[in-house]
Amino acid sequence: MTDTADTSTNPVTDAVPERCPVTDLATDYDMFDPDYLRDPFSAWAELRDTCPIAHTERYGGSWLPTKYDDLQAMAKMVPVLSSKSPIVIDMPEALVDSDATGYNAAAPISADPPEQSWTRRALLPHFTPKAIGPQTEYTQRLCNDLIDGFIGDGGCDAAVDYAQQIPPRVIAHKLGVDEGMVDDFIEWVRGLLELGLQDPELRAKYRKIIRAFFAAEVADRRVNPRDDLITALCQTEVDGEFLPDEVVIGMCNLQLVAGIDTTWSSIGSALWHFAGHDDDRRRLATEPELWDTAMEEMLRFYAPVTMARNAAEDIEYGGVTFKKGDKILMNFPGANHDPDIFENAGEVVLDRQRNRHIAFGVGIHRCAGSNLARMEMEVALKAWFERIPEFTLSDPDAVTWCGGQIRGPRKLPVVFG
Ligand code: HEM
Repeated sequence: MTDTADTSTNPVTDAVPERCPVTDLATDYDMFDPDYLRDPFSAWAELRDTCPIAHTERYGGSWLPTKYDDLQAMAKMVPVLSSKSPIVIDMPEALVDSDATGYNAAAPISADPPEQSWTRRALLPHFTPKAIGPQTEYTQRLCNDLIDGFIGDGGCDAAVDYAQQIPPRVIAHKLGVDEGMVDDFIEWVRGLLELGLQDPELRAKYRKIIRAFFAAEVADRRVNPRDDLITALCQTEVDGEFLPDEVVIGMCNLQLVAGIDTTWSSIGSALWHFAGHDDDRRRLATEPELWDTAMEEMLRFYAPVTMARNAAEDIEYGGVTFKKGDKILMNFPGANHDPDIFENAGEVVLDRQRNRHIAFGVGIHRCAGSNLARMEMEVALKAWFERIPEFTLSDPDAVTWCGGQIRGPRKLPVVFG
């Protein structure tokens, strides 16, 4: 079934007043253009045929690769393509919190080896399928409680009332912080990764708030250890030394940020798809053996995450020259639509057998939380389908998409039955 991009508007990006129209995608793509947010697929397809590594001067300049093989190769160009600054619009030095100077604010995602290697090693044991067991039971209960709250109303906002509510609680539960603060966590993460992407001042504000929050939590765990991930990280030794507070704070910051918008976007995109595609919805509801391949297909088709790299030196690749300091958007979502790799790449195929998608990235920075993310998606969608097998968009024009570096629906009104 071919995806039909919706025609919604995005209140965040539409509010940007002086947007010059894009006349040439190859030299002037606009990652915040409402048309691109609604339908990036056709832009990637055009670029793959005409200029597979596009460039724009907008937002400080960046490159956009669109082919699977290029993304695979670039992800391995470490450290010449550095991860130290993964947000495309840099924060001016003056806005960087002076308390934070000298620590990596979000290792391992914003670090290069060797710091990336030892911070990642410290994190991985906490995200194995076994280690996320307690979160699985918690997520099942949570999803059913959320559904209890709106099932009697005959409809809900599947993004706001459901998808958005799950990942912040799950990651708070895992970290061991107050789940009652979930609205704050949502506000902080949106302030950083959604509204703050184009507004470095806002991003600096929320970065400071998150850092102060985790600084207090880490200080507390040093004296009051508990059975939670913050305590476990405080007690982790590397080369015979406990991880410094600053590193633990950065890792907690990353988990909150990486764990929320991403998974919320994936759950929301899947619900958007099934609300608008009756055949696929009914097929999944009646053929439960499709779940595994269907989840991977949702991840492929609606991959939400595009982090950036910085060229650490002038470097030639694929017929273009990345100048030192240039930003490159790791367009994993675009790679997942490359017809050279995926048969019928532009169609959602629920029983796709060969699906080597890179929604979770590739190489040394491949998502450390992929087991948790997959579990949350599967539990959230299965709980929904079990209790609400029939649902449709109540007002397709009211759907809004957020994009830039994390793409997903932010308003998604649906009716049941
Ligand atoms: C469907 C949801 C998710 C998607 C699509 C996703 C995607 C990604 C991608 C593409 C990367 C690589 C970034 C790069 O190459 O620069 C990444 C890294 C990472 N993700 Fe996820 N992610 C998801 C959920 C999560 C969750 C729930 C967590 C848990 C806290 C998490 C933690 C991380 C961490 C720690 C890294 C950095 C790994 C490293 O740099 O070594 N992610 N993710």
